[in-house]
Amino acid sequence: MSAVLRIDDLRVQFRSDQGLVHAVNGLNLELPAGGAIAIVGESGSGKSTAMTALMRLLPRTARVSGRIWFDGQDLLALSERQMRKLRGHQVSMVFQNPMAYLNPTKTIGQQLMEPLLYHHLATPRQARWRALEFLERVGIADAESRFKGYPFEFSGGMLQRVMIAMALMAGPKLLIADEPTTALDVTVQAEILALLKELQAEHGMGMILVTHDLAVAAQMADEIYVMYAGLVVEHLPAGSLMSAHAHPYLHGLLRSIPRIDGPREKLPFIAGNPVNPVGALPQGCLFASRCSQRRPECNQRPPTVRLDNNHEVVCWLPDIGVEGDKSGPFDVPTVGPAGTRL
Ligand SMILES: Nc1ncnc2c1ncn2[C@@H]1O[C@H](COP(=O)(O)OP(=O)(O)OP(=O)(O)O)[C@@H](O)[C@H]1O
Ligand SMILES: [Mg+2]
Repeated sequence: MSAVLRIDDLRVQFRSDQGLVHAVNGLNLELPAGGAIAIVGESGSGKSTAMTALMRLLPRTARVSGRIWFDGQDLLALSERQMRKLRGHQVSMVFQNPMAYLNPTKTIGQQLMEPLLYHHLATPRQARWRALEFLERVGIADAESRFKGYPFEFSGGMLQRVMIAMALMAGPKLLIADEPTTALDVTVQAEILALLKELQAEHGMGMILVTHDLAVAAQMADEIYVMYAGLVVEHLPAGSLMSAHAHPYLHGLLRSIPRIDGPREKLPFIAGNPVNPVGALPQGCLFASRCSQRRPECNQRPPTVRLDNNHEVVCWLPDIGVEGDKSGPFDVPTVGPAGTRL
C-alpha cells in the first residue's frame, strides 16, 4: 500500500531561557493511505510537538529539520501560503486542547464553515448544510440552535465533537487526532473513538491518533509507534502489541497497566526519570538510565533492528524471545479497558 505520509528524521528543538530543548530527536514513521497509526508515549515524549511540526504551527522559537512527505511533497519545504492551502483541507488536526484553538468571539457555525469557505469548496449555503450535517454526525443534538452557539456554551465533550466535525468538514486525506478524548469520561470517550473510526473508514482517510492509552491505540490503529524522548523506540502492528513487544520500555509500559481483576496494589512503574530534554542529550541509548537490561554497548546509540514486517525496535538487545510467544516472559496483562493510561 502506498504511503500518504512519511516522516524522515524529524528533529525539533526549542530555544528557551534554560537552553535548547530537544523535543523531537529523529522521528521516522510512515502512514499507509487510508490506514490508521497510533503514537503512544509518556508525557513530554514529543508527540504533540511532532504533530504540530507537521501542521507547521510551531512557535518561532522552534528549529525544525528533517522531511515530512505528504502526497509527494515535503511539507517542511512549502511556503506558508502553500501550507495554508493544505491545512484544514487536505490535512487537519484535532488539537489536544480545543478551547485554545477555537475562537471565543465566533459562533461554532461560523468556525465550522470556515474551512469550506476559506478553501472555496462550497457556497455559504452549502457550507451551512454540511456544518449542520456534521454536527448531527458527531452526535450534537439540536444542531440548528447549537450552530449559533459560542464555544463557552459547550461542555468539554461537546467541544471535542465540534473539533472533530471541523477537522472533517473539508474531507481531509489525513487527520491527526491529538488526545481527542483527554479529560472526557469513559462513556463519552468510547463514543468519540467509535465515531472517529467510523468516519475514518467512511472517508478512507489516513489517521494518526496520539494517545497515552495503549488500549485505545490497540483498538483504533493498525500499527503502533512507541515514542520515548523524542524518537520512536518500537514500531509494531497493533495485533502484536501484547504478544511480540520487544523494547524494554514497552515491556515496562505494558507491565504498568493495572489489571481490572488484579489485586489493588500500588502500580508498578518504570524506575528513574525521563531524559532531561534541555541541553545536550546523553551519548548512548536514551532509555539506558532506566533500563533493567542495560549492557555496556548501551553507551552507544542503539541500531534499529527489524524483527518482522512493520516491526522494528531501536535497541542493542531487544527481547525477541517474546516474539510469537503469547504468554511472553512477563506477566503481561490483557489490554485493559479504554481509560488505562500510561
Ligand atoms: N514551546 C515550547 N518551548 C519549549 N519547550 C517546549 C515547547 N513545547 C513543548 N516543549 C517541550 O518539548 C517536550 C515535548 O513536549 P510535547 O508537548 O510534544 O510532549 P507530549 O508527548 O505531547 O506530552 P503530553 O503527553 O503531555 O501531551 C517537552 O519537554 C516540552 O516541555
Ligand atoms: Mg501532547
